[in-house]
Amino acid sequence: MEGTSKKLSVYDLSKTDSGLLQSKELYQYILNTSVYPNEAEVLKDLRQATASHPGHVMLSAADEGPLMSLLLKLVNAQKTIEIGVYTGYSLLITALSLPKDGKVIAIDPNRSYFELGLPFFKRAEVEHKVEYIESMALPVLDKLLEDRKNEGSFDYAFVDADKSNYTNYHERLMKLVKVGGIILYDNTLWSGTVAWEDDSSLDEQMVHLRAIFIDLNKKLASDSRIQISQLPVGDGLTMCMRLC
Ligand SMILES: C[S@@+](CC[C@H](N)C(=O)[O-])C[C@H]1O[C@@H](n2cnc3c(N)ncnc32)[C@H](O)[C@@H]1O
Repeated sequence: MEGTSKKLSVYDLSKTDSGLLQSKELYQYILNTSVYPNEAEVLKDLRQATASHPGHVMLSAADEGPLMSLLLKLVNAQKTIEIGVYTGYSLLITALSLPKDGKVIAIDPNRSYFELGLPFFKRAEVEHKVEYIESMALPVLDKLLEDRKNEGSFDYAFVDADKSNYTNYHERLMKLVKVGGIILYDNTLWSGTVAWEDDSSLDEQMVHLRAIFIDLNKKLASDSRIQISQLPVGDGLTMCMRLC
């Protein structure tokens, strides 16, 4: 009966094991051929430990890992920032990819999540590279910008939290990340729903977030201060390089 069917939530759309490719075989092929065989043992263990956590739907996709690691190494990243830590899967990728004296400022208001992942950072001996800040991200970015020394001092930023603030983060990160530096925005294809003609089968939260990402994607694509690439890995990753 019209109007009574269950609306799709983030849980329904992230439960598929086919990724954005909508082909379980092809997605598994990518994971099994190039992602899992090269995933550090400690990362695999953290991913598996997180899989049983009630918030596991938030875990960053494993196929994003090799790309992040490669980018960090390509730009010789030393000083980086991560917004949205959860149990630290993407943060551990960053910490493992940075040089010994590299640093990542990691911001998340829910420290208890990070504490689940902390033993894995200790085991990997990269804990010293992480400066964890228990806070919402926006005030931390504003505080960093109060010190002019921080302007243009970051090589790389990864944003994976609080989707309604992505455009606010973008304006701050455009000052904090150096020209030539990289900003990655996660979830920008929002389970593929950004391309749907009709959102009537989605629940209220999904409708809201779909609209946020449609707007963000237009803004990033027309921002002349950056060069971007929209990548269909994970839930959609937009890679931006600051041009000026
Ligand atoms: C999608 S998860 C991050 C996943 C993580 N990147 C990973 O690799 O598993 C989003 C995280 O953002 C955090 N968060 C929510 N609101 C936030 C805010 N305003 N600022 C920073 N982090 C926030 C949540 O506590 C949650 O841990």
